[in-house]
Amino acid sequence: MRTPSRSFSSWPALLCAFGVLFSLFSVGVAVKENDFKKCHQSGFCKRNRDYADKAIAQGSSWQAPYKILPTEASFKDGLFHATILKTIDDKGATVELPLTISFHKSGTARVTVDERKRQDKSIELRHNSQARKERYNEAEKWAIVGGTTVDVDATISYSGEAGIKIKYGPNSAFEADIKYDPYSIEFKRDGSAQLKLNDRGLMNLEHWRPKVEKPPVEEKDGVENTEKKEESASEPVGEDESTWWEESFGGNTDSKPRGPESVALDVTFFGYDHVYGIPEHAGPLSLKETRGGDGAYTEPYRLYNSDVFEYILDSPMTLYGAIPLMQAHRKDSTVAIFWLNAAETWIDIKKAKESKNPLSLGSPQTNTQTHWISEAGVMDLFIFLGPTPADVSKAFGELTGTTAMPQEFSIGYHQCRWNYVSDDDVKEVDRKMDRHQIPYDVIWLDIEYTDEKKYFTWDKDMFKDPISMGQQLDVHGRKLVVIIDPHIKNSGGYPVIDELKANGLAVKNKDGKDFDGWCWPGSSMWVDCFNPSAIKWWKSLFKYNKFKGTMENTWLWNDMNEPSVFNGPEVTMPKDNLHYGSWEHRDVHNINGLTFHNATYEALLSRKKGELRRPFVLTRSFYAGSQRVGAMWTGDNQANWEHLGAAIPMILNQGVSGFPFAGADVGGFFGNPEAELQSRWYQAGAFYPFFRGHAHIDARRREPYMLAEPYRTIVTSALRLRYSLIPSWYTAFHQAHRDGSPIIRPMYWSHPSSEGGFGIDNQFFVGSTGILVKPVVEKGKTTEDVYIPDDEAYFDYFTYRQLPTAKGQTLTVDAPIESIPILMRGGHIFPRRDTPRRSVQLMKFDDYTLVVVVGKDGTAEGQLYADDGDSFEYQKGEYIHRTFKLEGSQLTSTDADNRDVKSIKKGEWLKNMQDVAVDKIIIVGAPSTWADKKEVQLETEGKQSTVKLEYFKGDANRGPFAIIGRVGAKIGADWTIEFA
Ligand code: GLC
Repeated sequence: MRTPSRSFSSWPALLCAFGVLFSLFSVGVAVKENDFKKCHQSGFCKRNRDYADKAIAQGSSWQAPYKILPTEASFKDGLFHATILKTIDDKGATVELPLTISFHKSGTARVTVDERKRQDKSIELRHNSQARKERYNEAEKWAIVGGTTVDVDATISYSGEAGIKIKYGPNSAFEADIKYDPYSIEFKRDGSAQLKLNDRGLMNLEHWRPKVEKPPVEEKDGVENTEKKEESASEPVGEDESTWWEESFGGNTDSKPRGPESVALDVTFFGYDHVYGIPEHAGPLSLKETRGGDGAYTEPYRLYNSDVFEYILDSPMTLYGAIPLMQAHRKDSTVAIFWLNAAETWIDIKKAKESKNPLSLGSPQTNTQTHWISEAGVMDLFIFLGPTPADVSKAFGELTGTTAMPQEFSIGYHQCRWNYVSDDDVKEVDRKMDRHQIPYDVIWLDIEYTDEKKYFTWDKDMFKDPISMGQQLDVHGRKLVVIIDPHIKNSGGYPVIDELKANGLAVKNKDGKDFDGWCWPGSSMWVDCFNPSAIKWWKSLFKYNKFKGTMENTWLWNDMNEPSVFNGPEVTMPKDNLHYGSWEHRDVHNINGLTFHNATYEALLSRKKGELRRPFVLTRSFYAGSQRVGAMWTGDNQANWEHLGAAIPMILNQGVSGFPFAGADVGGFFGNPEAELQSRWYQAGAFYPFFRGHAHIDARRREPYMLAEPYRTIVTSALRLRYSLIPSWYTAFHQAHRDGSPIIRPMYWSHPSSEGGFGIDNQFFVGSTGILVKPVVEKGKTTEDVYIPDDEAYFDYFTYRQLPTAKGQTLTVDAPIESIPILMRGGHIFPRRDTPRRSVQLMKFDDYTLVVVVGKDGTAEGQLYADDGDSFEYQKGEYIHRTFKLEGSQLTSTDADNRDVKSIKKGEWLKNMQDVAVDKIIIVGAPSTWADKKEVQLETEGKQSTVKLEYFKGDANRGPFAIIGRVGAKIGADWTIEFA
């Protein structure tokens, strides 16, 4: 049974789907928004926004109720310990909030605030709840992998009654200025204030309190006043208590056994006009204001991983994943904070114009004021002081890990749809791609391959022989990806559910019983990957002899891991569900997807003893740290031009937020793209780090070969372009793996001084290649305006013609349907493999082409990284990493890591690479003084030889360039080419 939105396998679910459809038609698009909470419907968000309004309304007379007792504060070996006292009533009663600030060698600082009473577990839970009494403090177990070595050299630069100042970081250039009453911390770099915590006094940590039953309220006019039945004596008057103890939304009630427990803090970024990050939202890269201001949203940005059906664009509404990292950027300075919290979170943004000194001339500076509000957990945040975007990416990479080195095939093209219906269907698509000479690496199976959505099984009628399917794909080095979701069908005779139940590995409901909800299979239970035993069991399910029909070229797709629960509150689990360790779902929700993704990654590592290959697992839900285990995509988009445009800022945002292996469904998931849209989408998709075509079950078939001409050729060319640039993509992935840099880079990241680029999010550079792309995302458009961030020379990718660019200006370039606006920035060298083949695997030992794009000063530089693209041998040195340099009259290739390449012990891959050469070198912008040159001298491996050079002086269709070919120098060897 199928509906336009979901595929259900049972009648109750079908009825529920009709309900959804009915309401869709009756209320229009808004219904999707109304399925999810607005801030005023989320008790803690409303309370904290109210609190902020109250504080702001009081202006300078607002007294923030948090202070540090100087006598209780201490600093030693990079750690500051104190107790914050929160005054909770007008009689001066206080609660204790232990504070730790750690200063790290990496230059980050961490501020953690807990609550003594909950730490001591001396609170009472309601409803006989079995939940933990403490605030959730295990997010770091999942998100943090390094960068927290304490800087014992951090020093006190001032200490007194009013506060303390600590100098830390590189050259002691960073300083934390901690004020005691009211509590605040200002972070400075080189003496100038960058950001401040609790600047506006909006910090709020809802301490534990007993529920005080008020005597029944008298009836007035026969109507009982139920509004404020319950009230605690000790709370300030005026707070909205109606959501302290229970909260309902969409017919679901949250029992909230611990009462109110939110944490909130304001952070002001001084002089910063732009803030980026906090994915996942479908909106511009430079985040909008949420509390008034031009074009502002009225809602805060929300982070509560959700399966949002037909998500809307230009919205702060939550989506599938969450990375609570926000960077603030102004000319030549970037700072950031990472709010390590796994609970539902809302973030308000306000840009306040402020003239620091009333007499100062010039325009007032903008301070971006943010307000972070989470439902539960400890308050835990990291501060990064830059000063460059690359510094922030690096430090965040050290903290949460960098993107995994991918399986090389996974940066090729992926062909997916819901669903390829049989093994014959898969084989046929595979053959047709070959027949039309369209390269691809992976074909995907969505949920219908299973026997009634029972994962780890096959539909026996339609997939009679999965192994022969896998074998056919393997002939051309291709792979199969199958979907496995976290919901396990709750039906008899299915060993997976039997084992899940018998071993107690499912997520529990609030009463401690296995939680049962609805998803694709109907009644289901959810594997609780917070539980080490569940991970162990999950790993056992993927062994080749257990998950029969899979082979070495089968990889994985994890979907619905927010988790999506069709009949749950906001399409997810009740917050009072319980996970391993008795943590409430509320505590861990945003990390849930990561734990499942992680478990599948682990499972693929242990499919067979002795088989050590890099797993490929795509996830829909994610948190900071997910980048360590795979790729993500932006979920269920739509086949329209607006979604094509919206994908680019979303993918760029993933990159600057530490999870760059990102893509969007090419062609659009829902609906049927017209040929022009589909073509433009492939042209854009060819520049997504993760490049996959996907379509909804009701969408028409749209494999690239289905297109009529000229579109088929247009799409094929885009795919071929991607394939020729695989060495550059792989090099960019490697760089991301090493230093956390984004794979596709927005203007502010690549050019932090070029102010005109800070708001631009529809063009980007590919790694360090200097390739600048501006995909066309509008119907009928045949030109594009490209912003030029600097005064380097820029060349057209296809014609080599130098373009009339000017720093800070836009350049209009032709973009007829058959072409993608791609520029090459002078000063770069990037590698390609120019022989068209069917898959990445088949290109493995092809020779390389180097493209040298001469910069204005006559130099150029670039890199190539290559390894076997599959194993972990690169960690032992089994890789090639070259730096190419054009300087003076020489072009050289040297080892990028300064290794003596001759002495590297060679494994199988390196041995094979010994025969791989630089075939061709194209020199774009070659000087006209080379016009008469016919040859150049090559020196490599102790030998000298002469190589042919051809110079083209350019004509109406081409700019001047030179080609050196066949070079013959080994790619892994040192060499020098002398042009003099
Ligand atoms: C979800 C996924 C989509 C997939 C479908 C069926 O909607 O986002 O990509 O095709 O489930 O598994």
